[in-house]
Amino acid sequence: HRNLLSCEELSAPEINFLLDLADDAADRNRKINKKRDVLSGRTLINLFFEASTRTQASFELAAKRLSADVMNMTVSSSSVQKGETLIDTAVTLNAMRPDIIVVRHHAAGAVELLSQKVDCSVINAGDGAHQHPTQALLDALTIRRAKGRISGLTVAICGDILHSRVARSNINVLNALGANVRVIAPSTLLPSAPERFGAEVYTDMWKGITDADVVMMLRLQIERMQGSHIPSTREFFHFFGLDQEKLARAKPDALVMHPGPMNRGVEIASTVADHSRSVIREQVEMGVAVRMAVLEALARNLPQA
Ligand code: CP
Repeated sequence: HRNLLSCEELSAPEINFLLDLADDAADRNRKINKKRDVLSGRTLINLFFEASTRTQASFELAAKRLSADVMNMTVSSSSVQKGETLIDTAVTLNAMRPDIIVVRHHAAGAVELLSQKVDCSVINAGDGAHQHPTQALLDALTIRRAKGRISGLTVAICGDILHSRVARSNINVLNALGANVRVIAPSTLLPSAPERFGAEVYTDMWKGITDADVVMMLRLQIERMQGSHIPSTREFFHFFGLDQEKLARAKPDALVMHPGPMNRGVEIASTVADHSRSVIREQVEMGVAVRMAVLEALARNLPQA
C-alpha cells in the first residue's frame, strides 16, 4: 500500500505483519536509545483539522524516533482561516515535497479525497465518523500483548457508536483477526442497520457486557450532535456508563479500554478508568509503537532515490 486510509483495506496477514513490527518497536521504545534511521532524509507533515492529543503527539514522536523531519501544521493559524480549501491546502503542502502527510479531518471521506490530489503517502488519522485505522491497530496490539491472542475473544464496544470512527475501524480489525465483536449503545446512538458493520448489537449494557473479555468504552461525541439529540450525561452514565457493578458482569480478567479522551463520570467511572484491569495507558504507549510500524511499512513503498 502507498497509503493507510481505512482498515477495510487490510487483510489479516497485513494486520499481523504490522502488529509484529509494532511489538518490536514497543520493546525498543522501553530502551534508553529509541532512535533508528528508517526514515532518515524523509519529511512527514501532520495536518490536523480537528483537535488531538494522542494521535498527533504519537505520530510526531514515532516519526522522530525513525529519524524523519517532522512539521506540525497548525491549522488554526494557517491560511485555512482565510478560506483556503482542504484540497488547496494539501496541494500547497505537497508542493513542498513531503514524503508522508498524516491527516485528521471532521468530514468522512476527506482524507481519501486528499490522497487523490497529492503524490506522497497519506495516513488517515481520523475522518469524521468513518475510520481511524492506527487507533484500531494500537487497540489490537494492546489486546494481543495483554491476552496473548485476539482470535476467539469477545470484545464489547460501548457508547456512542453512531459517531465513532474508532468503533468502525475496530470492528474491521477485530473481525479480521477472529474476535467476536459486540456493540452496545442506546438506539439513538446506533447507526441505521448496525448489523451491517459486522457486530452483534445490544441496547442493554448489562446483557452486552456479560462474559466479555474486553470492554472498550467510547466518549459521547457531543460536538457531532444537534441540540435536542444530546443525551443527559447523568442518565447516560446510569444506563451505559462503565462502573464497578456493570464491569462485574464481564469476565473476571476482562480488560478495560478507552481510546481517549475520556469523560470521567459520563461513559466511565474514575474508579474503573484507574482500575488494575484498565489498559488505557498501555493503549497510549502502543500508539507510538503502532505508528512507528505503519511509518516503517509505508517507508518500504516510498520512491527510492
Ligand atoms: N484516541 C485519539 O484519537 O485521541 P486524540 O483525539 O487525542 O488524538
